[in-house]
Amino acid sequence: MNTHTDVFLTQDGKAGAAGSPAPHESAALHVSGEASYVDDLPELQGTLHCALGLSGKAHAHISSINLDPVRQAPGVVAVLTASDIPGENNCGPVVHDDPVLADGVVRYVGQPVFAVVAHSHDAARRAARLAHIEYEDLPAILSPQQARSEQATVVPPMRMRRGDPEAAIASAPQRLSGSFACNGQEQFYLEGQISYAVPKEGHSLHLWCSTQHPSEMQAVLAHVLGWQAHQLQVECRRMGGGFGGKESQSALFACVAALCAVRLNQPVKLRLDRDDDFMITGKRHGFDYQYDVGFDQQGRILGLKLDMTLRAGHSADLSEAVATRAVCHVDNAYYIPHIDVQAVCGKTNTQSNTAFRGFGGPQGALLTEVLMDVIARKLELDPLDVRRANFYGINDRNTTPYGQTVADNVLYPLTDQLVADSQYQARRAAVSEFNRNSPVLKKGLALTPVKFGISFNVPAFNQAGALVHVYRDGSVLVNHGGTEMGQGLNTKVAQVTAAELGLDLACVRVTATDTSKIANTSATAASTGTDLNGKAAADAASRIRGRLAEFAAGRWGGTADSVVFAAGTVQVNGQHLPFAQVVDAAYWAQVQLWSEGFYATPGIQWDKQTMTGRPFYYFAYGAAVSEVMIDTLTGEWKLLRADLLHDVGRSINSAIDIGQIEGGFIQGMGWLTTEELCWNDQGRLTTHAPSTYKIPAVSDCPADFRVALFDKPNIKDTVHRSKAVGEPPLLLSFSVFNAIRDAVANARGAPGEPDLNAPATPEAILNALSGLPARSTA
Ligand code: MTE
Ligand code: HPA
Ligand code: MOS
Repeated sequence: MNTHTDVFLTQDGKAGAAGSPAPHESAALHVSGEASYVDDLPELQGTLHCALGLSGKAHAHISSINLDPVRQAPGVVAVLTASDIPGENNCGPVVHDDPVLADGVVRYVGQPVFAVVAHSHDAARRAARLAHIEYEDLPAILSPQQARSEQATVVPPMRMRRGDPEAAIASAPQRLSGSFACNGQEQFYLEGQISYAVPKEGHSLHLWCSTQHPSEMQAVLAHVLGWQAHQLQVECRRMGGGFGGKESQSALFACVAALCAVRLNQPVKLRLDRDDDFMITGKRHGFDYQYDVGFDQQGRILGLKLDMTLRAGHSADLSEAVATRAVCHVDNAYYIPHIDVQAVCGKTNTQSNTAFRGFGGPQGALLTEVLMDVIARKLELDPLDVRRANFYGINDRNTTPYGQTVADNVLYPLTDQLVADSQYQARRAAVSEFNRNSPVLKKGLALTPVKFGISFNVPAFNQAGALVHVYRDGSVLVNHGGTEMGQGLNTKVAQVTAAELGLDLACVRVTATDTSKIANTSATAASTGTDLNGKAAADAASRIRGRLAEFAAGRWGGTADSVVFAAGTVQVNGQHLPFAQVVDAAYWAQVQLWSEGFYATPGIQWDKQTMTGRPFYYFAYGAAVSEVMIDTLTGEWKLLRADLLHDVGRSINSAIDIGQIEGGFIQGMGWLTTEELCWNDQGRLTTHAPSTYKIPAVSDCPADFRVALFDKPNIKDTVHRSKAVGEPPLLLSFSVFNAIRDAVANARGAPGEPDLNAPATPEAILNALSGLPARSTA
């Protein structure tokens, strides 16, 4: 039978089939420099360049603005302000509170106030600095704590509650309360934000944009220009990284480029300089936490009260969904019977924070992972035993605080395998031994698990479309609604399509994401790219396969459902015919050789008011062990060894999956250790370039880095029974942070909890060693 599963099985192991570690579809192009990004497109004649003039104040009325010096600067063609916007001055994705250009009031240092268009990129940037703007200061809110105390929020506070945490904590044998904080994080995609807008005939526009969300760009442009969506075509071949930073925040640049292009009726490109990108765009939300936890002598949590304050920035952007995901990940891998979690999105006069790999999930789960170690140290137990005591059960203790049953729990076998493979117990003993004999250098070790919910927490977003063309020579072109940002989505979709038609991967090509091909797409986000678009492409390909099978049986005999597509051939009635021959014959018989496909994730449901439902189709799991060494004289540290075991279900492409796991882990490690966002007392971000903002380098990767896949098919009917992998591995980096805290606790000798927030920079580590209180960083 030519069923979906059979096709996969017959193809398994063959070059290019689903399940094989085929190289990234653009790998050779990436390394040769041939892969083209928006800035590499040949510029059309007459192309102009745009730069943005930015606010110098955190919160102020613009009392006067003189743009004459800008207009008069060499090479300048036009200067646009908010009053040049024909439609709505908003690029906010959910709440319409995000101006494209400031209108009378500025809300953060770095907010775009005007756009300059010039003959060259350089001329535009130089001119943008020449404006004379006078401000009348307004009271600014520069910290989330201040926002909280002034009840300034971008969306209403949210709360999830189960049971009676107050009573559970009051009657618990042990009780702890305290605070913790984590920093935000800049996405630091290698390719900055960029849009290239080209006016076309009859009031239409083609926009090339580095974005995770072409359909959203199209919709926002329509509002800003006062146009209909069909006048706008948005295209993205690939991004040089997005990491969430191009889910909503590519919109402002798309809008400005389009506004200028339409106004001047000439092509306009807007490419940000790195510093401007840092100053303008939102980042991961920093969090402040207050907790109160009750537990028993085994460290089992009986009740938890948690209050989280987020730095949302000046507008709502995606903060509500981020905070929701954070609240839904406080449980991480653990059953917490009585719980109350609150999240307040503090409105601050800083960049509007947005999606970043994990989307609030990391911030929610981090606190609980820190708590596990705090509890273990308090009870003088092995933190792994405390974790195991708290793990979700298989048949009981398996309901999340939001009411979803954890049906696919692999925490026990996964942790056991990692403990064995990493020699966790022996290494814990070795670390203690090392520390006894080493007065200055101290080691720490930690094991942390991950459970991450897969699906958009806005149920409707869990849908996707695809378009598959089979040409008469048997070659295949696939288009789908997802975007490629380096994560290997197009490679996986090509593999799935090839497997569906029994073809070699070389026969299949994936083309640029384009709103004129697939309409109303979701962002490529929430790690769902392959789950959604892979299924849609498989649906399209299987429709074509069905028609070809019908045709082949009619032409060569046998029944349609006994036709097999494998190894580039069509096996029909005992004959093996080349795929291309059957396709060409089908063409002459007037058979449709292209098809659309669609997929919607079944069974997703969420009640925003009660914060209950079934927001996730399934969970992805993982665990990691990290061993670090700190220098107690300088606060410097090094990750010596990391063992990662991660659950990707049945892998579609093990090479790409391992790349995602390594990348996510190292990116998370950067967030929790070296990357520090600092705003001064005027609200100006002072760490806005690689000189002051330190992302991990290759030398920060551990010399001993062991990454393995936990190989077990998804119990849900996902594409090839795989699991999403884009975000969950970022949370494996908690093991690095906890290992540093372990090393600090070991170094201090005296009992007590190290006062160490994230990021654990050398400075913070030194402070923690000397018992100085951690400063709040959110
Ligand atoms: N990997 C690379 N190389 N570049 C990226 O920008 N973004 C991450 C993750 N992995 C990203 C990445 C984020 S934030 C998400 S949500 C997923 O990829 C999105 O892609 P997917 O759904 O296809 O996994
Ligand atoms: N992740 C990313 N983007 C989103 C989500 C999510 O869970 N929900 C809504 N937008
Ligand atoms: Mo990823 S933060 O969902 O773009």
